[in-house]
Amino acid sequence: MVDILTFLHLAAAIVWMGGMTFMLFALRPAALLALEAQPRARLMVQVWQRFFRLVLGAIVVLLATGGHLFGSGMKAAGGHAPLGWTVMAVLGVVMVLAFGHINFAGFAKFKRAVAAAEWPLAAKAAGQIHTLVVLNFVLGWVAIAAIKLLH
Ligand code: HEM
Repeated sequence: MVDILTFLHLAAAIVWMGGMTFMLFALRPAALLALEAQPRARLMVQVWQRFFRLVLGAIVVLLATGGHLFGSGMKAAGGHAPLGWTVMAVLGVVMVLAFGHINFAGFAKFKRAVAAAEWPLAAKAAGQIHTLVVLNFVLGWVAIAAIKLLH
């Protein structure tokens, strides 16, 4: 059971972390070079719509499996959680909150601004999304390093 939960947890983490890697290091720099601001904004509405739906699914899996692994692991260890587990749980929750802002604040604003052709507003919202994605990318790697390196 623990093996299946760890596998699902890892799979969801790969979807989220891999998607952010692709966005930050391939899609974003390529779109900035190859497209004018307006077609780029229309592309990003479609890209983010799809990616953020996947991330929502990944978050449901990460929280359900992570919560279960944490709870059962602590019980087995007599109420003691390794430091790396606590760091992951705390950073995981911060990442989920940051994603909430990305999806329900930044992306909602971005979509509305693109639909209304309010380009300066769209650029501001895209900048906010980018900053929070960078934050989540860094926190995700810190959490993964913590679970593997801190005992
Ligand atoms: C509240 C949220 C989370 C909790 C409570 C949690 C909990 C845990 C626990 C207890 C483990 C250890 C499993 C074991 O060794 O048996 C683990 C492993 C792991 N977690 Fe999380 N996690 C959370 C969020 C995340 C997030 C957001 C990511 C990355 C996006 C992530 C990526 C990983 C990875 C890569 C492992 C290593 C799996 C392996 O050993 O192969 N977790 N997590």
